[in-house]
Amino acid sequence: MPDAPRVVLLPGDGVGPEVAEQARLALVQLAPEVEVEERLIGAAAIRETGKPLPDDTLRACLGATAVLKGPVGDPEFDAADVRPEQGLLALRGALDAYANLRPAVQGDVDVLIVRELVGGLYFGTKGVREDGTVFDTCEYHPSQVERIARRAFELARTRRGHVTSVDKANVLETSRLWRRVVNELAPEYPDVTVEHMLVDNAAMQLATTPQQFDVLVTENMFGDILSDLAAAVTGGLGLAPSASLADGGPGIFEPVHGSAPDIAGRGIANPTAMLRSTALMLEHGLGRPGEGAALAAAVDAALAESPTPDLGGSATTAELGAAVLARLDAAGAGAYPAANGSRA
Ligand code: NAD
Ligand code: IPM
Ligand code: MN
Repeated sequence: MPDAPRVVLLPGDGVGPEVAEQARLALVQLAPEVEVEERLIGAAAIRETGKPLPDDTLRACLGATAVLKGPVGDPEFDAADVRPEQGLLALRGALDAYANLRPAVQGDVDVLIVRELVGGLYFGTKGVREDGTVFDTCEYHPSQVERIARRAFELARTRRGHVTSVDKANVLETSRLWRRVVNELAPEYPDVTVEHMLVDNAAMQLATTPQQFDVLVTENMFGDILSDLAAAVTGGLGLAPSASLADGGPGIFEPVHGSAPDIAGRGIANPTAMLRSTALMLEHGLGRPGEGAALAAAVDAALAESPTPDLGGSATTAELGAAVLARLDAAGAGAYPAANGSRA
């Protein structure tokens, strides 16, 4: 028998542990044979070990089937040299999780942002010159653009067949490279229509007519910003999940949102983004699309009856999580006999 799938759970900081607990409960209920191993990352890891990505966390993630991660970040480290976010960037780099899928779905809006995640400004040369000038560099190799663009074309084929490639080609060399590579690939995907859009206009279009987008592919920083905007026009950050995939090897599944220090510790964070990330992990990371769909459906149903304060309701994190588990229980009777059978 193959080894049981192993998920490394990184609760993270702020509201991270609060929403991660709901994800853990859902995962145990849906797939009890999956081994779940918790590790430190971010501010919690710096406090314990001095490092935002401790060696044992990295080792565990490299050997995992998938990584399920809560947000990192803590205002305590805002001015520090060693920051929680460095742990996340190092993890994405180490796993080469370059394809960051950020779906934003509500009503007639169904956008899939495909964000390049291990290149660009976040990973380029940075430093301080002798005269005190501080710099970050945006760098892309054609192969980095090609692999993310191929992902976008392939994903578009499974959807409505349209790719919007977002860049700043009127100013940036890296954007001109981006556009050239996308154009060179396009003939290989004759069933997909391609459009190029400048990023400032793309932000305006996303805010006003998000229905026009199918797959939106873009570089790291533009994708960071546009994915918060896409979340905002489809119900808010509390709802937005993501999957960061490599070519083989474990992916990272985490909410789009951060550690929300303004509401941390109050038990009112919306666990939906984390639960939907868990659903994406079941589908893309553990090869269990049935369980992923069951969790996504349970979350949708529970949201309607137990909305959290960010949605105008009064449910706590735990109450919404419990509503999801109840829905899974109701729907799961007989549907997942192995799971139910080993849960006494
Ligand atoms: P944030 O996403 O944490 O919060 C923005 C706003 O959205 C806040 O008002 C917050 O209360 C609200 N919000 C976020 N998640 C919510 C949820 N689940 N339920 C209800 N409301 C929610 O952004 P920020 O305040 O700019 O960043 C805080 C910290 O998080 C920073 O340290 C940042 O670096 C970090 N961060 C981490 C990740 C990650 O780990 N992937 C992502 C984004 C930001
Ligand atoms: C996100 C976050 C991260 C990013 C930060 C915390 C490094 O904002 O996942 O969207 O910019 O990628
Ligand atoms: Mn972000």
